[in-house]
Amino acid sequence: MSAPHLPSAAFFAMACFLACAAAAYQRPPPRETLSVPLADDADGLTPQQVHISLVGSDGMRITWITDDDSPSTVEYSTSSTFQQRESKVATGSSSSYSYILYRSGQIHDVVIGPLSPSTVYYYRCGSNPTRKFSFKTPPSSLPFRFAVAGDLGQTGWTNSTLQHVAAQDYDVLLLPGDLSYADCRQSLWDSFGRLVEPLASSRPWMVTQGNHEIEKIPVIHPQPFVAYNSRWRMPYDADPAAPSASNLYYSFDVAGGAVHVIMLGSYADFGPGSSQHTWLSFDLARLDRNRTPWVVALIHAPWYNSNAAHQGEGEEMRQAMEAQLYGARVDVVFAGHVHAYERFTRVYDNRSDPCGPVHIIIGDGGNREGLASEYLDKPKISVFREASFGHGRLEVANATHALWTWNRNDDDEAVVADQVWLTSLASNPACH
Ligand SMILES: *[C@@H]1O[C@H](CO)[C@@H](O)[C@H](O)[C@H]1NC(C)=O
Ligand SMILES: *[C@@H]1O[C@H](CO)[C@@H](O)[C@H](O)[C@H]1NC(C)=O
Ligand SMILES: *[C@@H]1O[C@H](CO)[C@@H](O)[C@H](O)[C@H]1NC(C)=O
Ligand SMILES: [Fe+2]
Repeated sequence: MSAPHLPSAAFFAMACFLACAAAAYQRPPPRETLSVPLADDADGLTPQQVHISLVGSDGMRITWITDDDSPSTVEYSTSSTFQQRESKVATGSSSSYSYILYRSGQIHDVVIGPLSPSTVYYYRCGSNPTRKFSFKTPPSSLPFRFAVAGDLGQTGWTNSTLQHVAAQDYDVLLLPGDLSYADCRQSLWDSFGRLVEPLASSRPWMVTQGNHEIEKIPVIHPQPFVAYNSRWRMPYDADPAAPSASNLYYSFDVAGGAVHVIMLGSYADFGPGSSQHTWLSFDLARLDRNRTPWVVALIHAPWYNSNAAHQGEGEEMRQAMEAQLYGARVDVVFAGHVHAYERFTRVYDNRSDPCGPVHIIIGDGGNREGLASEYLDKPKISVFREASFGHGRLEVANATHALWTWNRNDDDEAVVADQVWLTSLASNPACH
């Protein structure tokens, strides 16, 4: 039956299209978990889950997993054909862990170097020479480019984010926690390792932990962070002058010391007197801001957040550590946890402050829990907020200027949705 005096469905569709086009970006629903081959399907793929991370100024840790006892050796070379004259072999060690009934493969860990900056190295791991990988070492001076993505998971949206990260070059990826969303299903750590391998084997991935890494079950599996610490070992003990006591917090320099990155542990003790708190004071006290114009910190649960999700969860840590970061004139604090994007102005103690860090929530990598779309009234210190999937880029141009860009996953297209030039606090005499 038709009702010719009523506007047609096409009219409604057009009206809706126009209204939607004029309004804010319409957020897509969460996507399914990807069918990345799970452990059983990928048996025989060896080595697998290859990823790399920085160690000191000229080393690289190569991590991979095998289901056999093949040797923990890496052959690496600046020649893609591994010409003998150019090739070196490094040896490390391997370990495994048990989680209730699950037993991991052999997790191999080899540090190679010294390596030259801005150089492509080819490498192969263990006893399978047919899987060849390559990475580019980061530059030893500015400019320097970070990709930043939190709360990744392994859904169709994660895939979209990873494609966008890979589409533009970068030097190091920073991940403020919540990697695999395995949530005690250990084979999901394996599938995550395979999903990220194309990226994480070719550029250093530097991560810190989120709540989804804890995987503690009272009585049955009381020890936290077992899979995370086994699979994603970071260089917490790389600097003998300032070692951290734990894989859950550490720091490192890039660009010849022009940028100092501090990875904090939102789920490690952080109160005054804790080893993390003491270590942070020590780490910050060693900074020479003439040599290191940029300091960036990462946490998981945000200290500033106007989303309805996870309100107050970072508050205890903020009270414990904000004065330390402020006193050291940390430039930017990245957080995850809230599945959305939000950028604040420079803040300290809940107020706009020209010498405080810019706080950025970048927990929108693509995990299966979906987006956090409900917001509280917008506080004055919140500059830009949007519940969409995406990733960020921090391009440090020189000692004074860095460009921050948030790329939204706009129906599988990376679209620049927020962009701002930041100036280093070291270059602001009013903050000395
Ligand atoms: C990820 O996305 C790319 C491009 O859209 C597609 O070709 C690929 O199959 C996806 N990967 C998975 C595991 O779904
Ligand atoms: C921060 O300030 C806002 C008002 O702008 C207030 O609603 C909020 O409770 C304050 N948070 C803390 C931790 O003091
Ligand atoms: C630093 O980079 C900014 C942005 O590209 C530029 O405007 C500025 O002139 C540069 N400063 C120096 C000292 O090169
Ligand atoms: Fe989280």
